[in-house]
Amino acid sequence: MQTSRNVYIETYGCQMNMADTEIVLSIMRDAGFTRTNLLTHADVVLVNTCAVRDNAEQRIIGRLGDFNHYKKSHPNAIVGVLGCMAERVRRNIMESEDFVDLLVGPDEYRKLPALIEAAKEGGKGIAVKLSRVENYDDIIPFRTEGLSAWISIMRGCDKFCTFCVVPFTRGRERSRLQAKVLKEVEEVARRGFKEATLLGQNVNSYWDGAYDFPDLLAAVADVDQSLRIRFMTSHPQDMSDKLITTIASRSNICNYIHLPVQSGSDRILELMNRTYTADHYLNLVRKIKEAIPGISLSTDIITGFSTETEDDHKQTLDLLKAVEYDGAYTFKYSPRENTKAWSMNDDVPEEVKSRRLSEVIDIQRNISLHRNKTMIGQTVGVLVEGPSKKSAADFCGRTDTNKMVVFPKNGDAVGDFIEVRIERANSATLFGTQEYVFHQPPAFITREN
Ligand code: 5AD
Ligand code: SF4
Repeated sequence: MQTSRNVYIETYGCQMNMADTEIVLSIMRDAGFTRTNLLTHADVVLVNTCAVRDNAEQRIIGRLGDFNHYKKSHPNAIVGVLGCMAERVRRNIMESEDFVDLLVGPDEYRKLPALIEAAKEGGKGIAVKLSRVENYDDIIPFRTEGLSAWISIMRGCDKFCTFCVVPFTRGRERSRLQAKVLKEVEEVARRGFKEATLLGQNVNSYWDGAYDFPDLLAAVADVDQSLRIRFMTSHPQDMSDKLITTIASRSNICNYIHLPVQSGSDRILELMNRTYTADHYLNLVRKIKEAIPGISLSTDIITGFSTETEDDHKQTLDLLKAVEYDGAYTFKYSPRENTKAWSMNDDVPEEVKSRRLSEVIDIQRNISLHRNKTMIGQTVGVLVEGPSKKSAADFCGRTDTNKMVVFPKNGDAVGDFIEVRIERANSATLFGTQEYVFHQPPAFITREN
């Protein structure tokens, strides 16, 4: 006989969803639920979903089949679909997946306990209204102990890139008050986290009525200089000089910017409503590299957007070579209902999208390999994250430039800042040996030996 009520939750998609899951868990805890990591112990099964591409949704639909199966042997269990897919698909999901009891969009999580009560009476709970103001400012996310904390600084997006469903699933952009964000940062520092990542769909347009993103970033970095600060995602249109100067001005702000370009062709960028040209983007990259030596850059690329030609694709490959990113997240274009691009022709055949995707991946792999090889012989600061996946004798951790480093264990512990001399590299990982252990972080600079 179970005495407490257990909630099991799975999270799909972006870091914003990871942060939202912590808000959901906080609301559930306050309503008397205990988190379980075992599906077989669950009274309530929640899945926090992603709708950004069709394959993400298909994966979730597949997983829902398992929850249906679970419900057959646990008929009192409640199954809820949360997040972007709930917002996008709405009632339809209840028609095709009739065992789903709850459908709750990203701005409606406060209603979860009441909806669960109603579902227990046999009703279906649907809450998918988007809000212009909800930012869960008063809810302290449920964070388990760890090294890295997600801190959501804003919600929604007003950019309306023509391929993207996010403005429809997460609604209008709204920023949390700087003072509230700072309180949360103080709390994670006090609890011993080593790293905080500020999250928003487009952090560069943060504005709380008094402070912009560079103000916030500087204030966050000044809370505790031993806390490493990351942020994502940056939109190239809103990346100001002030932000670049701010990143350069604080040693605990990581030298890493995720700056999605999506395409290297001006024609496609315009069709995507990205509001910049390849030239504008390249100038921005030049400025960033000049102001922040050693900066690491990553990007998102979509292949096979509507009407993309071989020439457009070639321009993307050229841009990859010109920027020399440290990493890239690459996707085949997936048309999403309601977006502007939905009404454009999805006219690039699947096999062409796939071939272009492999070309992007191949070129980027070579660039990453080359960039990583230049690190050989250098000593880099690393935050120890845990055992290496491949060998129990090794630890792994990340540089402030977000590169994974593997090195033999040598008296160091998870959470230590150490210095590692790089001896070998492949396109994804650096390998080396430890030089010094710091229990306080050194200035996060890479020094030449
Ligand atoms: N198809 C493919 N990729 C997409 N992204 C967003 N929407 C789509 C889509 N419809 C990618 C973009 C974005 C990243 C989070 O997901 O590259 O930056
Ligand atoms: Fe989507 Fe564009 Fe907003 Fe990013 S900036 S969430 S791609 S609409």
